[in-house]
Amino acid sequence: MTASSPSPDGGEVIETRLSRVDGLAGELVIGGYRVEELAPQATFEEVAFLLWQGRLPDAGELESLHSRLAAARVLPEASLELLGRAAASRMPVMDALRLGVDSLGLTLTADSADEALAARLVAATPALVGAYWRLLQGEAPVVAPADLSHAAAYLFQIFGSAPRPEAARGLETYLNTVVDHGLNASTYTARVIASTRSDMVSAVVGALGALKGPLHGGAPGPAFDMVFDIIEKSNDSGRPLADEAEAWVRQAVAAGERIMGFGHRVYKVRDPRADVLGAAAERLYRGSDRQEFYRQAQTIEDVAVRVLGEMKPGRNLKTNVEFYTALLLHGVGLPTELFTPTFGVARVAGWTAHILEQMKFGRLIRPLEKYVGEGGRRWVPLAGR
Ligand code: ACO
Repeated sequence: MTASSPSPDGGEVIETRLSRVDGLAGELVIGGYRVEELAPQATFEEVAFLLWQGRLPDAGELESLHSRLAAARVLPEASLELLGRAAASRMPVMDALRLGVDSLGLTLTADSADEALAARLVAATPALVGAYWRLLQGEAPVVAPADLSHAAAYLFQIFGSAPRPEAARGLETYLNTVVDHGLNASTYTARVIASTRSDMVSAVVGALGALKGPLHGGAPGPAFDMVFDIIEKSNDSGRPLADEAEAWVRQAVAAGERIMGFGHRVYKVRDPRADVLGAAAERLYRGSDRQEFYRQAQTIEDVAVRVLGEMKPGRNLKTNVEFYTALLLHGVGLPTELFTPTFGVARVAGWTAHILEQMKFGRLIRPLEKYVGEGGRRWVPLAGR
């Protein structure tokens, strides 16, 4: 098996056993399981094992992975020191995370690219986000108790106490849902770096850089701000929420802006992850005093899809994963600044699996370019230009 081969049109096709995205049917399969089946039931540890090994773990294997992850949550002093300096200059969380992951290289003994290093990166990523968030708030980083699940430990690392089980389960469903998604921009970045036989840390650092942009992983914060802004405007003006949403979306699209949380390069129907996250958010909000907020967000979603359909006909701009990410992560208690880093906490398991797959089966990734520049120019010395 090779993980890349030439396509009939001369481009490169990358083979993977990790996930299959069908943008027309609105289907996502991770390690052979439909996302709707896997994400709400599995633990994140089981999903990471599935990606690395191609099958679910048995009880002993799961226990062993759990212990390895718990041990690797303790961050090196050098990394904590660096995060402290970053916090002093109020560096954005994604940049501090990139710096933190890179700093792990200070304490790695070998330039390995194996599952042990993958597990270390998966454990360290939430620990770095949690530690940095606490440093930004002027609080000391904490180490989560070893018996907590990966998802619960992440919340402990941020808030300094064990989370409600519903919040940990909501977060875990989110982490499972977005763990892998074909050749998205950050995964492709990781594979390109891995394909040069560079190292795993470099590939993850590169992937983080690709993830943070607003067209990829940076969308849920602005999507959430939009929901809040529209609700606030409706409260102030006394106009019905749907009318306020319609005016907001129309004005933004007319001004050439993009509505965050809508549209997708691959999905031309509703993103299946939006349904999984929507159901998880609904469970989390049900019966709480925030239930009304969830209904308001749905009203805004319906209006946005309708107005985008009208103003951008033929573009099939449907709700993507980021809209419900924002609702779910807010319900879990995370501040908007941590939405994109939390995406990284999930996707790092997918990235490492792709890196391992690329290193094992792949060849150098080198897309062909189509030159559209000038030709046949003659050199004119400076004085003559
Ligand atoms: N709001 C308004 N208009 C949009 C949107 C949107 N969310 N998305 C696309 N369009 C419009 C573009 O302006 C363009 O219009 P035009 O042809 O009249 O100029 C047309 O639709 C096609 O746009 P492209 O950029 O070619 O479409 P592409 O497939 O590259 O877009 C993308 C995909 C980047 C996700 C886009 O839909 C977008 O910017 N969405 C908002 C950001 C977002 O939610 N990102 C998260 C994506 S999911 C993820 O990465 C996990």
